[in-house]
This record gives sequence, C-alpha cells and structure tokens, in this order.
Amino acid sequence: MDIARTPDMADAAPEPHDPVTIRREDYQPFGWLVPEVALDFDLGLETTRVTARLTLARNAKAPRAEAIRLNGDELEPVSVKRDGEVVNDWHRDGADLIVPLSGDAHALEIVTEVAPAKNTKLMGLYASSGMLCTQCEAEGFRRITFFPDRPDVLSTYRVRMSGDKATFPVLLSNGNPEASGEGDNGTHWAEWHDPWPKPSYLFALVAGDLVANSSSFTTMSGREVALNIYVREGDLPRTGHAMDSLKASMRWDEETFGREYDLDVFNIVAVSDFNMGAMENKGLNVFNTKYVLADPETATDADFDAVAGVIAHEYFHNWSGNRVTCRDWFQLSLKEGFTVLRDQLFSQYMGSDAVKRIEDVRVLRAAQFPEDSGPLAHPIRPDSYREISNFYTATVYNKGAEVIRMMRTMAGEEAFRKGSDLYFDRHDGEAATCEDFVRAMEDGAGLDLKQFRLWYSQAGTPKVRAQLTHEGNTATLHLSQIVPPTPGQPEKQPMPIPLKVALFDRASGERGEEHLLVLDKEEASFAFAGFAALPALSINRGFSAPVSIEREVAREELVFLAAHDDDPFARYEAMQDLIVGHLVDAIEGRLDEAQRAAGRADIAGALGAVLRDAALDDLMRGELLVLPGEGYLAEQQTVADPGKIHAERRALRAYLGAQLASDFTALYERAAKVPFALDAEASGARKIKTQALVYLAASDPARAAELAAQQYDMADNMTDRQGALMVLAGLDSPERTHKLLDFYNRYQGNALVIDKWFALQAGSLHPNVLEHVRALAKHPDFTLSNPNRVRSLYMAMAVNPQAFHAADGAGYAMIADLILALDPINPQTAARFVPPLGRWRRIEPLRAEQMRAQLERIAAAGNLSRDTQEQVARSLG
Ligand code: PHE
Ligand code: ZN
Repeated sequence: MDIARTPDMADAAPEPHDPVTIRREDYQPFGWLVPEVALDFDLGLETTRVTARLTLARNAKAPRAEAIRLNGDELEPVSVKRDGEVVNDWHRDGADLIVPLSGDAHALEIVTEVAPAKNTKLMGLYASSGMLCTQCEAEGFRRITFFPDRPDVLSTYRVRMSGDKATFPVLLSNGNPEASGEGDNGTHWAEWHDPWPKPSYLFALVAGDLVANSSSFTTMSGREVALNIYVREGDLPRTGHAMDSLKASMRWDEETFGREYDLDVFNIVAVSDFNMGAMENKGLNVFNTKYVLADPETATDADFDAVAGVIAHEYFHNWSGNRVTCRDWFQLSLKEGFTVLRDQLFSQYMGSDAVKRIEDVRVLRAAQFPEDSGPLAHPIRPDSYREISNFYTATVYNKGAEVIRMMRTMAGEEAFRKGSDLYFDRHDGEAATCEDFVRAMEDGAGLDLKQFRLWYSQAGTPKVRAQLTHEGNTATLHLSQIVPPTPGQPEKQPMPIPLKVALFDRASGERGEEHLLVLDKEEASFAFAGFAALPALSINRGFSAPVSIEREVAREELVFLAAHDDDPFARYEAMQDLIVGHLVDAIEGRLDEAQRAAGRADIAGALGAVLRDAALDDLMRGELLVLPGEGYLAEQQTVADPGKIHAERRALRAYLGAQLASDFTALYERAAKVPFALDAEASGARKIKTQALVYLAASDPARAAELAAQQYDMADNMTDRQGALMVLAGLDSPERTHKLLDFYNRYQGNALVIDKWFALQAGSLHPNVLEHVRALAKHPDFTLSNPNRVRSLYMAMAVNPQAFHAADGAGYAMIADLILALDPINPQTAARFVPPLGRWRRIEPLRAEQMRAQLERIAAAGNLSRDTQEQVARSLG
C-alpha cells in the first residue's frame, strides 16, 4: 500500500539515494585506458613502500573525463606525480583519489606505504607466518596502490621487488622472471614481467623463505613450462599430489577444451592465512595450504580429492577468467560458474564419474538450495550488491556451473565444445559478460537460448511437479513448474528445464530409451507408447537440471528404482527419496506405528540390498549409504523444527544400525582387510568402513567405541584415523578422551591436522558439544586471526544442527558473539557466518525468534563492516 504524498513531503524527503548499492544496470566503461603499469616494491613486513607508474590514454569508448578516479582503501598518497612533475591538484573523494587530467595521454607516478603485518583483513598485501603475499580479488588491489580497481581495465604489468635477502629469499610475481640481482645491506631484487594484459584483481606478489617442488610440463605445441609449488620447508614432502594434479589438469584442458598454457612458468604458493580456497592470479596462483598439502598420513581421501579439484579450478581460470575476464563483478559467474563446471568435469574424468556427480549435487543441495530459498537468494548474475565479497556464493559458483552444464546437456559434448571454442576465440583478451558467453553458445553450439537466459536473471530453485499416468499402451508424463518468489522478484516466468527421463517396465526391469525433455512452459505432457502397464519413472537422471522434483510416488516404485536404475545418480536419488519421504512424514506426525514400521522396513530392505550388492563398487555403495542431511530435510518443509528432524533422523540411523547389524559388521570386516592404497578400491573400502561404524555407533555405542578405538590405533592413514575419531568424538566413552588427546599430541605443530581436531569436536554428535566449543575457543591453539582455524571451530559448529539449533538458543548466541568479535579483524570471514542465522523464517517460531534476536543484536552494534552489515540487513529485511 502506498501512502498519499503531498508535493512538499516529497521535497522534504527526497527519493533516498543509497550511495553504497552498486547496480548492474549502471555500468559505464571507464574513461581511461591503462595500457602499462610498473610497480616497484620496497618490501618490509612492517612497512612496504609502493611506487606505481601508470601510462594513461583516453578511452574513446567512454564519455570524456577531465580527471581520473583511482580507488583506494585505507591508503594515503605519499606523493603524486603527473607527467614527471609533483602535483597537488588532486583531491580525495572518500577513500578514492581524484587526479585532474586534461590531455589525451598522461603518465602518473604514485607512492603509497602499506603495513602488511597489521593487515588482518588478508586483502591487499599482508604478512603470513613471516612471508609477504597478496590477495586482490575482488577489490584488494586498491589496498596496495591507488588504481582503477575494476576488472574491465586491462594492463600489462612490470614488477620490481627489493628486500632483505635473508627474510625474503624468494621473490615472485605474475608472468615470467626477467632479471634479478644483489643490492646494498643484504638486500636483493627481482623483476617480473607479465606480457598478458590483465585486470588488477589478478595481480600477485609473494616474498618469503620458501622452497619449491619443481617440475616441468610440455604443452601440446611443444613448449616447455617450468612448474613450481612453493611451500615452507617442512611441507615439501606433502606437495606431490598437487604437482601430479597440476600436470593432469594442464593435459586435460588441452584435450577437452583445447586450452594451452601461455607463459614459461607456472607458480603456486601455499599460504596458511587465506580467506578463501585459492586464487588464480596470472602465472602465480596463491593457495590456502589446505588445498595444496596432502600425504596419506595427514590428509584424508576427501582432502586429496579437494586438492586435485582446487588445483584444477585455479589452473583452468587461466583461460576462463584470465585470458577472458569479467567486465564487472555482476558477471562473476561468467568465470566462476564455467570454471566450476570445468573442474567438476575434470574430477569426473579423473575418478568416479557417478560418485563425483552425486557429491556435487549433494553440495548444491546443502549449500545452494537453502540460499535460493532464503533472504539471501540472488540470481547467478546478481542485479545489485553493496559488498561484492558477499557474492562469492554457492549460487554464483555451483548453480552457475549447473546452468552451463544444462547448455552442455542440451547441445551435446561436441557442439558444446564448438561453443566454448568460439567463446574463447571471440573474447580472448577481453573483459566479457555472461551475455557474451550465452551468445557464443548460441552461435557456436547452435542452441536457441532466448528463454534460457532466464536462468541468469531469475533466482529461486524451480519446483517441477511430475505425474505419470497410463492408459492402453501409453504412459503419459504430466509436468508443471513453479519458480518460487525470491527477494525483489515476486513473479517469475517459466524457464526451460532439460529433464533426462526414462521409463522402466516393472515386470521385466527393462528400461526404455532415455529422452531429454525440455519443459519450457508452465505445464506440458509427454506421451510414451509401448507400455502395457504403468512403468516406473526415472526423472532428472544425472541431475540434468538444478530443480527439485515433486511427485507422489509409491514406496515400491522407489524401492524398485533404488535396486534397478542404471543411472547411478537416479539410483542414489531413489534411495534418498525413499528416506526423505519417510522422514518428512514421520517428522510431520503423519505416521501411525504400523506405517512407521512399514516405512522403516522398506528402507532397511533397500539399504540391505545395497550393502550386499556384489556388483556395486564401494565408492558408489558409500554414496547410497549416506542419509539425507538435516538441512536438506529442513528444505522439504515450509517451516522446519530442527530438533524433530535431528531426533527422527538419528532414530532411523539407530534402527538401521540394529536391523542390519550383521551386514554392517560383515562389511566392516571385509573393508578392514583391504590394505592402504590411494586407488578407488582401497579408498572405497575406507569410506564404507567408517560409514559402517557410524551406523553401528547409533545402535550399539559400546561396540562401536571399541571398533573405533581399534581402527584409530591401527590406522596407517588419516582417512581411517579421522573417521574413527569422528565416531568417538560423538560418544561418551573413555576412549573419546584418550584418542582426542593422542591425536592432538601426535599432530601438534601441523596446523591443518589440528584444524581437523577442532572441527571433529565442534561437529560431533556429543550432547555437550557447545560446552566443548566454548572450552576450545580458549585453547592456546585457537586464534581469530587465522581463517582456517576460525572455520574449523565455528563453521563446523554452525553446520552441526544439534549444536547450532540447541533449543535454548546458545548456538545462535555463540555465532553472533563470534561475528561481533571477528568483524573488526576480518570482515569477509565474519560475514560468512551470517547466513546460518538468516534461515530464521523457515524455522519453528521459538527458535526463529532467537535467531532473529541475534541478528538484531548484531545489527545494533556500531561500526559494522560493510560485509557484515549487508548480510545482516538482507537477513532481517
Ligand atoms: N577467484 C577465486 C576462485 O574461485 C576465489 C577467491 C575470491 C579467492 C576472492 C580469494 C578472494 O578461484
Ligand atoms: Zn574460481
């Protein structure tokens, strides 16, 4: 409803102009080109002096400007020279520096000083255990020097670094090394040149006492590339897997996408203080140690896979992100969605195709679906933001990947490759848009994506209703779609939804042909001839579209598909649906005792078949054994009661553990005999071994504690040891204390493993987990200044439903306390803890009120960062 406004009311209250909201539709090209940048760093941990020399030329494609705006963040200009002369006619606009420019071409020289050791935000130039490194995406370069810090300004960089040789024996930057030498007083210097024009967010510098695992790669055209992975001395033995993964990525990108590496060297540096996973700086990728270091003693099988995936992801950015970059940050999914798809396809190729696909869908459902149905929902190409760091989301990354995967599914692999070739050819050296990508796919792959563009502009997970009917010899599939309203988007248009579908004859178990149906209207029906009776429906096979399917389906049909479906994802899905259907009915109180017993028995039957199916490999068996997560169960309800969800799910696990005890025991014993190896067979055995323990722990804690303690003691690898300790951490057994202490003592000094020690306790099923977290926060090894450590304790707790959703609200208060304490230190990391609290509208009223109250408490605190402020405001709004 609108209130009547008199003209003078309008005068008194002008349309509120919100200067901090950036809008996609306001994009303007920058007034100046900056073809060349020369940076000179006089390095020091306390103070680093930066001299930046920029060549400037008017941008003919932009309106004429009489000045240049150079972004800054916590910077003061020490001196400004224009065309060689010191000038004082510049002024400040907020944190930015405005320098008048009257001619068509100019040179600027700007000196700034930064304090790396005091930079706790880990954006810009900062110190991490005695070394210097940079993080510039998205807007960190402006914390190093004044610069047009936007991705559509592309420059070639020449970088000179000088500093104390003993402190910084290794000096690295983007591109190729060109010269180095000795200076006075124990200093030395090095010069690097990057021939490829790049935006400032891809700049990087590293200086420190590092050693390298060095190797080389010969590209498809026969060029030799030197590869180095730089780490702290003691970590060198843990770099082999990263190096192997890098080489495999380079080869795969040549073979699959025709992309060749384009510099003489490719360097990776591992740093222990890092806000994200890793960063694709041109020729100098900077990584969180978590995604570089791995050996069987200290890293789990999942860690090995994550290292390979992230190494591949950053390497693939060299083309999808660096050679073709983004015009503005609204286009982030252009590089991230595409690159996630590329890393997913690489991992599917390297390991088990089916298992990787299931894992990726699980991640999407756990992280992206809740985002899409909550207050932070946004399209993969957002329309506005206040702080871009808040948009490095599962939507932009993972849903972005699904959107491009749908194009690939509709086009087929070959045509998709033509589309991607055209995209790379057409936009090489440019800052492009999502629209450019879609057009290249239309032109190259021969797709009509007119309506498909809605996937870029509409938020929300589409719901597809499916109903199969049968008459005579024909089965008919009735489909309808709803795209739910999301903030700012109350009404939606129907989207094209590609669904892979197959029908199974129930009597013979035989499958008919697989079809790719595209539902592009609100409703449509599809007829399939040749079925004498109602067949079983396998829909959204391979998860061909990122939607949720809603249908009324008899349990027998799901049991049938869980046993017979030849599409591994669909088989997994049938198993999940069987369990989800039962649990949601139980949670919502729709089952009497007899119905509950029948539902459980069907699940036990299906799971027992999975346990005994000799044709299944153990990695896939492991997927079929995973119970749907509590967050995913909550998503199935309009308003969820986390307490009930937890209790029902836990009770089901105990029932299954008891009911199938002998199968689980047999499985455990078989798996325990498989000797350690890094291959699929042995890692599959490790996976199901710990899963069997998890079920047994639910039904027979004493027996499970005994087995877990034994597994812990005999472990010759981290997967077994961590799995055993995870089970013990949830039990009230004396072994819990012993093994936790042993683990700590054994790995003290290895930060990544001590992170696991924190995370296992914060993520445990133990009833006193909040008390444990409170004590761990006071542990001498805990610090708010290291993001990995913060996440290992508090993110593990925030995603642990029984801890976070403790009925008295203590979990919510603890996360709010953390946000308030962390925000002044590291706002980016602090803001990432807001979304769990933002789910309040979908939670039962008592908890919802507690969650909202914590958000209000944060909002009321003064001096919040823009990061946290934006997330809290959206969560309350
Ligand atoms: N661009 C990085 C990636 O996805 C992520 C990142 C963003 C890292 C911002 C640091 C800061 O590969
Ligand atoms: Zn990325």
